[in-house]
Amino acid sequence: MMLVPLKRRKLVLSKGNTGVDGGDIVAAKFPQVVLFLLERKMGASRRTFLSQLGRRKGFQVEEQFSKKVTHVICENNCAEDVRTWLASQGGEQAEVHLLDISWYTESMRAGHPVHMLDRHELQELQVDKSEVVVFSVPAYACQRRTTLENHNTTLTDALSLLAENAELSDEDGRGVAFRRAAAVLKVLPSAVKSTSQLTGLPCLGGHSLRVIKDVLENGSSSEVESTKGSEQYKALKVLTGIFGVGAKTADRWIREGIHDLRQLRDSGHALNRAQRAGLEHYDDINQPVSKTEAAAIEELVKKAVASVLPRAQVVMTGGFRRGKPSGHDVDFLITHPEEGREVGLLPKVLSWLQSKGFLLYQKTTRNSYLESKEGPGRPPSSMDRFERCLSIFKLLRTEKQAAEAPQDVMVNDVQAEGEQKSDESSRPEQTAAADRRWRAVRVDLVVSPISQFAFALLGWTGSKLFERELRRWAGYEKSMCLSSHALYDNNQRRYLRASSEEEIFAHLGLEYIPPSERNA
Ligand code: CTP
Ligand code: MN
Ligand code: MN
Repeated sequence: MMLVPLKRRKLVLSKGNTGVDGGDIVAAKFPQVVLFLLERKMGASRRTFLSQLGRRKGFQVEEQFSKKVTHVICENNCAEDVRTWLASQGGEQAEVHLLDISWYTESMRAGHPVHMLDRHELQELQVDKSEVVVFSVPAYACQRRTTLENHNTTLTDALSLLAENAELSDEDGRGVAFRRAAAVLKVLPSAVKSTSQLTGLPCLGGHSLRVIKDVLENGSSSEVESTKGSEQYKALKVLTGIFGVGAKTADRWIREGIHDLRQLRDSGHALNRAQRAGLEHYDDINQPVSKTEAAAIEELVKKAVASVLPRAQVVMTGGFRRGKPSGHDVDFLITHPEEGREVGLLPKVLSWLQSKGFLLYQKTTRNSYLESKEGPGRPPSSMDRFERCLSIFKLLRTEKQAAEAPQDVMVNDVQAEGEQKSDESSRPEQTAAADRRWRAVRVDLVVSPISQFAFALLGWTGSKLFERELRRWAGYEKSMCLSSHALYDNNQRRYLRASSEEEIFAHLGLEYIPPSERNA
């Protein structure tokens, strides 16, 4: 018996009884290895040639498949097909190795059965370049139908978190880039398996692609994980969770060493009225608003509007109009079928709500839009100038809701529970959510004259990225300027009127996308 060099012996024996090295007795050179070459896709003549070659090298190669066979050798077959064939031979229970021809030829060359490596195993799916699904997607989100569901949530969640972090860090450019990349993945018809499928897709920059690759290969992105865990991100989330606190203010506070609500209170910083209200109703405002709660608010707003101006109309916009099951606030657009009758409406509605005790906070901005002043030369601004009110409503709970109210309201998934509790106890003025018969809800009210209603409705339905893309499309592709007030055609030098969203899409040369498909 020859001594097998250690290294080789290890190779030969490590993955099951793949073979034994041995002497020169041709017939029983590798008795544990009984081969069968599958003719399918290999072809009869090649199979005959390869079988004879194997036998000459001392391998036992069977003509017929039987229970004796330990290794099935295939060429150009995928594992699934071979398993189907094996089952038809009654061999599905057998412990048979399904191997690619490469294992066979390498073994021939080596003169013994080589160690089975991953690359010798049959691919689960036929890897044929022509069969890899390569996706194709139009460049602008407003050309696409984006529903709430998508096939790549792990990837879109990862990119959205990086977008959120960029926005919280006051880096809007980077935020938009990640939002655009996520939006592209949201419309793909199936789950992405490899980055090769993404070739040629729009809006996928190097950074986004690296994140996608990381997630596909490792199950998660190291950048996303480290962002989630970073003190900066956690503090930004907690502080911007205060109504009235934006990225800039939060960043300034963090640089002063303020990372949570208690540190903010202890700092003695003077807060503005919005921030004081935001802090007071922090837990409620950071608790998502449900569809049921939104419907209750809608009823209330409609009642208030009807009681001050009977024919005025109220439409719920924002995320709820797009079909979202929950939101951070409830958005409404109010108009009146007679142009001009909407003027002065909002203060009356607010007085009505105030007198009934439904308002915890409100700040109204007067309408400052004047078409003659807007002029064609003005750049499209994402801020519109409607009369509007950012408010916090006091929503009374029904018996049932009060009973279902969470005992320990989770403010924010990045806030530690302990911190939350101590926070609560340091604020005796705020009754625990469960004991209260009401909750605070953020509500946005916007008033539009009927002539601008379609533009306002389109502009306030969102999503934010969808809106941004509509304006980008209008500017770059159509030389038009779109706002929540109007659409101006730079070539024709005139405003294009519209009384429905459908007409605006038509003016823009876009297929109509309903609200439920604007979730870019
Ligand atoms: N909007 C706007 N001007 C603002 C604030 C918001 O035009 N100053 C528009 C946004 O573009 C968006 C819509 O109002 O289309 C709703 O904004 P928002 O309530 O922030 O987002 P939602 O999509 O409703 O998401 P959520 O459910 O979190 O409220
Ligand atoms: Mn909203
Ligand atoms: Mn809003």
